[in-house]
Amino acid sequence: MIAHLEEFKTISTIIEDGCLIIEIDREDKMNALNLNLIEELGQVMDYFYKHKELNGAIITGKGNKAFAAGADISEFTGFSSAQGIEMSRAGHNVFNKIENAPKPVIAAVNGFALGGGCELAMACHLRVASPNAKFGQPEITLGIIPGYGGTQRLVQLIGKGKALELLMTGEMIDAEEAYKLGLVNYVVENDALTDKAKELIKKISKKAPLAIRSVICSVNAYFHPRKDGFEHEIEQFSKCMGTEDFTEGTSAFLEKRKAEFKGK
Ligand code: COA
Repeated sequence: MIAHLEEFKTISTIIEDGCLIIEIDREDKMNALNLNLIEELGQVMDYFYKHKELNGAIITGKGNKAFAAGADISEFTGFSSAQGIEMSRAGHNVFNKIENAPKPVIAAVNGFALGGGCELAMACHLRVASPNAKFGQPEITLGIIPGYGGTQRLVQLIGKGKALELLMTGEMIDAEEAYKLGLVNYVVENDALTDKAKELIKKISKKAPLAIRSVICSVNAYFHPRKDGFEHEIEQFSKCMGTEDFTEGTSAFLEKRKAEFKGK
């Protein structure tokens, strides 16, 4: 438990092996994302950004049934259009924080990832899922559309045709199909989920931290219509070349030794 994050009502956190493990803690409600949870998740992400000793974060759901079964329907039923904008914007801000984090955030999807839950998993950089995981954007059956970035990130990850099918039918797909579509990176047994995520974070943490940040930034820029992804890549590429880590990485290769990156 993180000292000053102890008071959170909807999330529990632990630090293990340099990874911040964030567990959505509303098991009796299938880990549905209420507005308080979105706010707390934003605060946890601020903590993650600030603490340099953390190599990565893992987001998962409590129990073995649900990662998160969507936004909390009981909270937004009857919302006006104006309240809808506020709710959606708050979610976007936090999910963008996850997507733009300078070090890897991995979703360990341990069950239903529906609606906002699927959107949360998609905002993470990578996804590992257990065989019982189910993904879907069922908002259409409630007369709405995804409001936490799902219409954009689903297309980015699995392509327009299949994304439109899932968005228009509201149907769920299982972990195996999600893997085939590229929605998840790995499918592993439930009790191995966190270890798989930690293994990926460990692998990435051995690489130059500033270059990892630039990779995330450049890949995100590809999908950002107001920025030219290619221009962004040129900028980030040249930024990396000015770093000590770059000199260290290339020197280590030429000297046939292992690089010692310092994040400088
Ligand atoms: N918002 C609020 N409460 C939710 C929820 C959500 N998105 N998803 C599940 N819950 C609650 C249920 O209302 C129920 O509460 P209760 O015990 O007080 O009645 C509890 O979680 C358990 O869910 P239940 O539906 O009984 O479990 P199940 O195993 O029969 O079905 C799901 C699981 C995930 C298929 C089903 O809960 C579901 O379809 N949830 C909604 C998914 C959705 O539409 N998400 C998009 C929202 S925008």
